[in-house]
Amino acid sequence: MSARSRDLPRRSCLSIPGSSEKMMGKGPGIPADMVFLDLEDAVAPKEKESSRAKIATAIRTQDWGDKVMCVRVNDWSTKWTAFDIIEVVAGAGERLDEIMLPKVETAAQIVATDLLLRQVEIANGLPIGHIGIEAQIETARGLINVEEICAASSRLETIIFGPADFAASMEMPVLTGGVQIAEYPGDHFHYVFSKILMAGRANGLQVIDGPYLYIRDSEGFKNYCQRTRTLGYDGKWALHPDQVAILNEVFSPTQEQFDRAWAILDAYSSATEGEGKGAVMFGDEMIDEASRKMALKFISRGSRAGLTRSK
Ligand code: GLV
Ligand code: MG
Repeated sequence: MSARSRDLPRRSCLSIPGSSEKMMGKGPGIPADMVFLDLEDAVAPKEKESSRAKIATAIRTQDWGDKVMCVRVNDWSTKWTAFDIIEVVAGAGERLDEIMLPKVETAAQIVATDLLLRQVEIANGLPIGHIGIEAQIETARGLINVEEICAASSRLETIIFGPADFAASMEMPVLTGGVQIAEYPGDHFHYVFSKILMAGRANGLQVIDGPYLYIRDSEGFKNYCQRTRTLGYDGKWALHPDQVAILNEVFSPTQEQFDRAWAILDAYSSATEGEGKGAVMFGDEMIDEASRKMALKFISRGSRAGLTRSK
């Protein structure tokens, strides 16, 4: 795992096609927590090989601040994966934090990526373990194996849901992935969201929701983001710069929640340490050890988002 990026926020994960020097040029100015330069589905087959060098140059020569820097390579069923990794890592140098692996179906594919990265790191004078892995779950087989996948390597930093490919893999009768299906009485992805979240959390990973394809529909996007935010996800993809500000807001605690979490922690620690009590009243609410754990999650999420205590 990349020591630098593992705990950085990923509220907004911006996708940029690696074939477009123009779009990569604009990337540093967009306030996304994480950026991934794509070699997979946003790049046409005949552009894939030439895009590797463009991506490496963009990572090496542009000032990306403290964004998490990632490259999405092609999946292991293609002829490109190993060559994508070898060329991009060699060319990008140490500013590259992670490789994103799409359509992961087995733990063996993560192990293969881990072993290849180790050799590439040694060959390029990078510390072993420098490059982390983000894994996308977007097929029926990937979802069945998600628990083993999340436990397959210490390089793993995130597990990501890919709704568009997943809808195709499941043969759902939809032509737009990652949006609500009006005819379905409930959330057709609820089981999927929960299963991926549990597997990720059980292995200490950040858990990320994928794209929302109606990029002009800000209201619908904001509303849809609340589903995975409410379940506990850390962030979601942005396909357009306009989606980034919405994500940064939805996936951060408010100042009020952050201050309240601190106040709960204070009240609980003075009760347990001072008065020797396990449970205590906090306003109208009874708080105990579980409240402390919930408060700590808000504090770490808020601190990662740059909040400081205001009272
Ligand atoms: C993302 O890659 C998706 O397929 O939704
Ligand atoms: Mg996909």
